[in-house]
Amino acid sequence: MCGIVGYIGNREAQPILLNGLSKLEYRGYDSAGIAVLERNQMKLRKTEGRLANLSARLRDHQLKGTAGIGHTRWATHGRPSDANSHPHTDMSGTFTVVHNGIVENYVELKQELEQRGVVFTSETDTEVVAHLLAEHYEGDLVSAVRAVIQRLQGAYSLGVMTEHEPDKLVAVRQSSPLVVGIGYGENFIASDIAALVAHTRQVYILEDGELAVITPERIAIMNAESGQPTNRKPTQVDWNADQVEKGLFDHFMLKEIHEQPLTLRNTMLGRTNEYDEVCFPELAHAADVFKNVEKVFIVACGTAYHAGLIGSTMIEQLTRIPVQCDIASEFRYRDPVVTANTLLIVVSQSGETADTLAALQEGRRRGAKVLAITNVPTSSIARDADYVISTMAGPEIAVASTKAYTAQLLAFCLFSVYLGQEKRTIRSEQRVELVRGLKALPVQVEKVLENANEVKQYAESIKDAGSLFFIGRGLDYAVALEGSLKLKEISYIHSEAYAAGELKHGTLALIEQGTPVIALVTHMDLYDKTVSNIKEVKARGAHVMGITVEGNVQLLNAADEICFIPPTLQLLAPILAVVPLQLISYYTSLALGKDIDKPRNLAKSVTVE
Ligand code: M6R
Repeated sequence: MCGIVGYIGNREAQPILLNGLSKLEYRGYDSAGIAVLERNQMKLRKTEGRLANLSARLRDHQLKGTAGIGHTRWATHGRPSDANSHPHTDMSGTFTVVHNGIVENYVELKQELEQRGVVFTSETDTEVVAHLLAEHYEGDLVSAVRAVIQRLQGAYSLGVMTEHEPDKLVAVRQSSPLVVGIGYGENFIASDIAALVAHTRQVYILEDGELAVITPERIAIMNAESGQPTNRKPTQVDWNADQVEKGLFDHFMLKEIHEQPLTLRNTMLGRTNEYDEVCFPELAHAADVFKNVEKVFIVACGTAYHAGLIGSTMIEQLTRIPVQCDIASEFRYRDPVVTANTLLIVVSQSGETADTLAALQEGRRRGAKVLAITNVPTSSIARDADYVISTMAGPEIAVASTKAYTAQLLAFCLFSVYLGQEKRTIRSEQRVELVRGLKALPVQVEKVLENANEVKQYAESIKDAGSLFFIGRGLDYAVALEGSLKLKEISYIHSEAYAAGELKHGTLALIEQGTPVIALVTHMDLYDKTVSNIKEVKARGAHVMGITVEGNVQLLNAADEICFIPPTLQLLAPILAVVPLQLISYYTSLALGKDIDKPRNLAKSVTVE
């Protein structure tokens, strides 16, 4: 969960590396560093802390040269410190390495190297790679890299450079993402396309086990083990540079919250027809598989898991197929019963989450067909799945996921209707009603966003709370889980989400005078039940903010404050109800002066187990 970049060409490398790292900081931000070949001599600068620290340091001590590699880190082995920051070098300082992933056998490699007299300067797993390179180098960097990776176990993408061959960078991918950007008289490497779109939109997406040799004029990709060239076509990226900038917004999170009307429209685009049927041209070849599905697992982590919880209700209600939603890191170790005609749906914004990817592989090994719902169609998860539904949310930079979540909910609803059509379990009036409801959502989200100021005031009022509760029943409970995660993640206020009917079985003991409770009340068929639970917490001193549908003013008899969402179908209400919760988290974090886009201890893309 680090970001790596590399540049070789005819421009100064330093600003290109720093700019690339700034687009990758979401992947990790506890230290950063770059190495540049200055008149064929390796020069390094690396610092603990944010990229801004490194940039400040480089302001007075610039590195001049047209080839370099850079890294932004999320610490796994060794605390954040200057010494543990990448790039790492061998003892002579002539080989440098940046690494994303974990070298699992680094302890034994380190011992082995130490026995041969190697002195380590960091606590990282990565440093073994630099020393091994020096040992294996016999005049050809590519051969040395190929020999070294034979010794490595685990996940790694690497960027490697040496003074001995200043005309090239070498990059390797093994279970951690890596792309090679194609320029004119210059070429690039990066963990993510976001770091490259300012320079090029033509990329090669490396596959696991591939090695790329990059010079200013040429990119050669080969199988790292056999050395055989791989013949690949470049991918044209449809992102643009503005999408990875904050624009007029103070934070990416706020920008992404406000992009939701657009991202919902984009995710709908081309997926319904004039008869209000759902069509997925990308799934057309698999219609028979979907017709015969008898059991569904949904597997994901974090926010994507919360989307999966709602997706499971959507699929069950519209198809009557049993669905189980699992946390990916649990699914893979719990010996799940996968029968013939089981569909495994994996959900991941990034498409690179290690636990979700491993769950996908485990499900496939057990015989399931795999459908991925992801925001990155070039990701590992998309490439490993049998079928892919892309959420068209565009790049999501803030660590706290917002627009990807609502796009996932929309994708789930579309897929549920599609499955219902294939299996003939959905009535046509129900389908038409749902599709029309989906089409109305972008405008309805705009309406919720127009009331952001009211939510802002509420956020101010809870910023000093020691703890908060989110309650709801049915789908509202799943939305409560997401609201609570969002608040914890960026404001660091403790909060818990509870199924409203479950509070009285223990957690009610935590409610005291003034405890803020956010109650989701969009399930009108469960309205009386949830109101009873609101009264229970009110009786113990809670201050209740209710989130409900317009017109439901009688909730004011139970709650202290109300935030309204436009009326919609029950299955679609989560897409609207989550928006005020996203705004509450954002404004609470803002009021507390927290680093909203880069909360402590976290990273956007979790590529370690
Ligand atoms: O990229 P993914 O959707 O697979 O990521 C899964 C989680 O790590 C992610 O949703 C995380 O929970 C978010 N930071 C929550 O806002």
